Amino acid sequence: MALSPKLTENLLERGYSRRQIAKVAMGAAAAIPFFHEAALAQQAVDAQAGRGGGRGGRGGVRAPYDPEVVVITSNENPMGPTKEGLEALIKVAPMGWRYGPQGENLEFQGLLESTENVKPGYVTAYPGSSIPLANVVPAFTSPTRSWVMGAPGYGNHANRWLGNKSISVPLRKDYSHDVEAMIKADPNAGAFYICNPNNPTGTLTPRKDLEYILANKPKDAVLIVDEAYVHFSGLENMSTELVRQDKDVIVLRTFSKIYGMAGLRAGAAYGRPDLLAKVSQYGGTGFMPVTATACAAASMKVIKTMMPERIAINKKNRELAFAKLDQLGVKYIPSGTNFFMMEVKGMTGQQVGTAMRAKKVQIGRVWSEWPQMVRVTVGTWDEMTKFNAALEQVVKEGPPKVASAG
Ligand SMILES: Cc1ncc(COP(=O)(O)O)c(C=O)c1O
Repeated sequence: MALSPKLTENLLERGYSRRQIAKVAMGAAAAIPFFHEAALAQQAVDAQAGRGGGRGGRGGVRAPYDPEVVVITSNENPMGPTKEGLEALIKVAPMGWRYGPQGENLEFQGLLESTENVKPGYVTAYPGSSIPLANVVPAFTSPTRSWVMGAPGYGNHANRWLGNKSISVPLRKDYSHDVEAMIKADPNAGAFYICNPNNPTGTLTPRKDLEYILANKPKDAVLIVDEAYVHFSGLENMSTELVRQDKDVIVLRTFSKIYGMAGLRAGAAYGRPDLLAKVSQYGGTGFMPVTATACAAASMKVIKTMMPERIAINKKNRELAFAKLDQLGVKYIPSGTNFFMMEVKGMTGQQVGTAMRAKKVQIGRVWSEWPQMVRVTVGTWDEMTKFNAALEQVVKEGPPKVASAG
């Protein structure tokens, strides 16, 4: 993306080097192929298979498709797009020769506003939330203004890529964000990132803690609340209320999770118009595929029935796995989302991943802060039944004999 002279000047004033500005100009799109959830999961799979993985590796390209392998790595939702969404998608597809078929695009924007009861101008649509998540980095952090987040967590990939300071504060014992420690971590922080519920723990940080950040942060810093999984954890945890109150907050949403549209690409950033303008100047808006737009809009219209149904199915499948973990004595974090972390005694998370892969169940990823644990996505009932059977054997057999690359 070509940066305007004004934006380049602004970055220079904030301490950005020419090299960093070149990276910003490459845009979020340049970094995302290496940092989105599917790419990170693929790196984990490569590592499990002893292929080394790493950023330069496969660049997010999946291993060859094997229908026998259960793939529960990337927090995708096997329920897929809603019936109503698919019907709308098929209906709009023949109009795909137009850059923007009339009605559907306008309807999507209106629904993004009305579902959260925000005024026009308080939400920007993106093809997924990875782009605004990457854009908030140059918008609010700099070589002198850090990115502060929880650990283990998600969301600092673009910041690391850009080379600004990133501070990871360990989660509390109850796995919520330690907001007091986050505030203390840097009096000159530019952005506080809270993933709620958190990826990879699947646990919540209460609203009062978000309010604590807002009340105690440096004046011009922002709070980024990443609500990719909030729908699974109860709508009362949504923090768009803070947007309605005009706080210094940006709330990120995606249609990749409960809406089951990861490959279709739809998402949104909520916030005050002045904050959203800072985010969108780094690109990525105006690229919504009309198919995804129509599908997302139609799905939002059935949200009242769709959401409870999907929450219930996910919970049932998650509990099928938790019952087996209890029986096997495998420790896990009681997640309220479509993924969870577990720890098999005597094995590293990496070893568990490798052993499960050998039994045709692909799980992952492992976080460096907690090498004993590994994250698992909640799949279908059938997939979790296969997961349970494979895990039972892995627990019995112990660590795989082959050394795994890490
Ligand atoms: C916490 C979190 N935020 C954001 C994203 C980005 O999702 P997408 O770009 O598919 O909307 C993901 C993807 O897994 C995620 O786990």
